[in-house]
Amino acid sequence: MKSNLILIGFMGSGKSTVGKLLAEKLEMKFLDTDLEIEKERNQSVQEIFSKMGEDFFRKLENEITKKLSSTNNTVISTGGGIILNKENIDNLKKDGVVFFLDVPKKNLYKRLLNSKGRPLLNGDELWQKISTVLDERIDKYVNSADFIVDVGNEIPYETMETIKRIYIEKA
Ligand code: S3P
Repeated sequence: MKSNLILIGFMGSGKSTVGKLLAEKLEMKFLDTDLEIEKERNQSVQEIFSKMGEDFFRKLENEITKKLSSTNNTVISTGGGIILNKENIDNLKKDGVVFFLDVPKKNLYKRLLNSKGRPLLNGDELWQKISTVLDERIDKYVNSADFIVDVGNEIPYETMETIKRIYIEKA
C-alpha cells in the first residue's frame, strides 16, 4: 500500500492540476478536500463561506482530514487554508507525505486574476490580499511540509515529475 501524497500551498498554486497528473502517473486515487466538502454539503465553497461563515468551513475541513487520515494510495489536494489548523496536518501525515508547492507571489497573482469561487479573494486589491494572507501563512506552509517544491515558472507537468521523483525515491 502506498502512503498518501498530500499537496499543500496557496490558492492558485496548482495543487489540483498537479495532483491529478500525479495520481494518473503513479496510479493512485485522487481526492480534493474542497470537492469532498462540496459533495458532502451539496454546496459550493463560496456558498458555505457566505451562508455559514469561514469558521464553519474550517470545521468541515477539519472533519474531512480526519476521514482522510484512514485512506491510503491517494493523492490529496488540499484547500489553501488547511495549514491553519495543525491537527489537519497531523491527520494527513498519519499516512501521508506532504509537499508544499512554493509559487512566487507574482505568479500567484497572474493565476488568480481571473479566478472565481475563492471567497477570501473576492473584491478589489487582489495583490494586497494575496500579500497579506501569504505573509500570515508562509511559515505554516513551510513548517507543515516534508518537502518544499520550488515551482518557479515550471508548467504543471514539470512539477509533477519533480514530486514523483522525490516521492518514489524518498517517501
Ligand atoms: C482557501 C482556499 C480554497 C478554499 C477556500 C479557502 C484558503 O482552496 O479551500 O476558498 O483559505 O486558502 P484552493 O486553495 O484550492 O483555492
